[in-house]
Amino acid sequence: MKLAILVGTMTGTAQLVAQELELRLDDGELQAQTRLMDGLDAAAFAGGGLFLICTSTYGQGDVPDNAKQLYESLQSARPDLSNVQYGVIALGDRTYAETFCNGGKRFDRVLSELGARRIGEIMLHDASAGTMPEEVAAEWIGGWISLCREQLGVVA
Ligand SMILES: Cc1cc2nc3c(=O)[nH]c(=O)nc-3n(C[C@H](O)[C@H](O)[C@H](O)COP(=O)(O)O)c2cc1C
Repeated sequence: MKLAILVGTMTGTAQLVAQELELRLDDGELQAQTRLMDGLDAAAFAGGGLFLICTSTYGQGDVPDNAKQLYESLQSARPDLSNVQYGVIALGDRTYAETFCNGGKRFDRVLSELGARRIGEIMLHDASAGTMPEEVAAEWIGGWISLCREQLGVVA
């Protein structure tokens, strides 16, 4: 099973989370590869497969700068993503009550509109909660991978 972790980040937190997960996941049976979203467009999903979107939120509930091209390309090109399965790790801060974790939620919305299937619930991380996102994600990922194996029919 291959997993592409696509990272949207402004100050590196989401990248740290993705790198931590990649280290934990790469076990021979599952090959995880982290890619920053910089320079990517909708073609990143061509061919389908399993993706994990790991992104923070900025501005007025926007995706980070390095994720804008990918997000806007999905909205304008509108490819059929029915061969894509994905999960979302959304980093945010509840101080921004109206737009909490909107960056990840925006990706979830556009991917599902394009026919991709989300596996599991979105993982939401609140930077004001005093927990480390890489630790929360490390706990969350085991359950998510089990769901992926169940739903994609891969024997664990
Ligand atoms: C200028 C600024 C704007 C932000 N806007 C939001 C927001 O609208 N909603 C939210 O949930 N978090 C918001 N955040 C919090 C970040 O998404 C959060 O701190 C995240 O962990 C940063 O991850 P990164 O280092 O990968 O970019 C904002 C942070 C900053 C500095």
